[in-house]
Amino acid sequence: MSQTRDQYAAEVVASIPLCQEHWKLVLHLQHFPTTAPGQFVQVACRDLELNYSQEQDLDWADDQPVQIDHAELSQRLAFLRRPFSLAGRRDSAGGVEIDLIHRVVGMGTDWLSRLKPGQKVQLIGPLGNRHTLPGQKSSDEAVAILVGGGVGIPPMIYLASQLAGRKAVAFCGAVTRNLLPLTITNAAVAPTATSIEPLYNIEEFATFGIPAVISTDDGSYGYQGFVTQALERYLDRYFMDEPARGRAIIYTCGPEVMMKRVAQIAEARRIECQVAVERAMACGMGTCQSCVIRVKKADPAAAPMPGSDWCYRLACTDGPVFLSTDLLW
Ligand SMILES: Cc1cc2nc3c(=O)[nH]c(=O)nc-3n(C[C@H](O)[C@H](O)[C@H](O)COP(=O)(O)OP(=O)(O)OC[C@H]3O[C@@H](n4cnc5c(N)ncnc54)[C@H](O)[C@@H]3O)c2cc1C
Ligand code: FES
Repeated sequence: MSQTRDQYAAEVVASIPLCQEHWKLVLHLQHFPTTAPGQFVQVACRDLELNYSQEQDLDWADDQPVQIDHAELSQRLAFLRRPFSLAGRRDSAGGVEIDLIHRVVGMGTDWLSRLKPGQKVQLIGPLGNRHTLPGQKSSDEAVAILVGGGVGIPPMIYLASQLAGRKAVAFCGAVTRNLLPLTITNAAVAPTATSIEPLYNIEEFATFGIPAVISTDDGSYGYQGFVTQALERYLDRYFMDEPARGRAIIYTCGPEVMMKRVAQIAEARRIECQVAVERAMACGMGTCQSCVIRVKKADPAAAPMPGSDWCYRLACTDGPVFLSTDLLW
């Protein structure tokens, strides 16, 4: 079985609407290399089995528009593959199921949302580096604090699955309840607009024994305000002293403005913070240089900027996971 990235044909098992704009795509593969939270796949958001590239002669006359009936040239198609974080994985004797949760924002995700069970999807993966789990740190008492916003919530669900049995809490934020790609259960314990107490009422996290704090900007569910505000209040209540903060690790993924604030909150309290950046990516594997991000340079003599204290790294292959203290955003 291949353990490195490759191109795979997956079959759609289910495509489930989760809220107004998010869908969960469950894909089956005969085999797929080992994966870890933080990693992603590049999905062809069009039917690659259609022979778009069949050669064709075009009649060219100066005074006439060129007649193009070639699907690849005449239709609106997602030409490049699109990156999606792994949101879950289940291995069995019959193969591997992976979950992708996507928000419909353009033509590629619109195409994905129309997939039906049995259809084929081509993907390349697994790509990118991975989060360091708390168990790999020395402290047994480590507490993982997951902070996801919008399309940054899916990788937090995969991370949660790997944290089952460990101390963890999830913070998830969205603009409004209808944009939360999560399953709210147990309505009897609905949170109040000011509460930062984690509850076991979000199925995706409760399944792994992890309570969650949900925030919405408009207060339509959970804490009213930004997820970063809920996080800050929580840390100042439960992680007040140095020993407690030393045991915490924050993991975050979401809009950069949110992650920058999470990083500030973590750094002000000297809490380790692992950030999974979602820069726009054309290739996802280190070729196109579209995903550069500025990081502090450990070695001042290292290329590509000798003499300066920073350099570019590729979010797709050096990341997407970086320590917040290394990033210059
Ligand atoms: C490593 C990584 C993991 C990701 N994981 C997920 C995920 O789990 N779920 C999910 O829904 N999305 C995820 N995304 C974002 C996802 O790749 C884009 O939303 C998708 O490519 C949009 O494709 P489209 O053809 O539907 O939209 P397009 O027509 O390509 O774009 C629609 C709009 O979205 C903007 N856009 C596209 N990509 C990005 C981006 N990366 N950052 C900011 N704006 C963007 C475009 O500029 C445009 O305005 C991830 C991105 C990266 C880099
Ligand atoms: S996406 Fe092409 S180099 Fe990173």
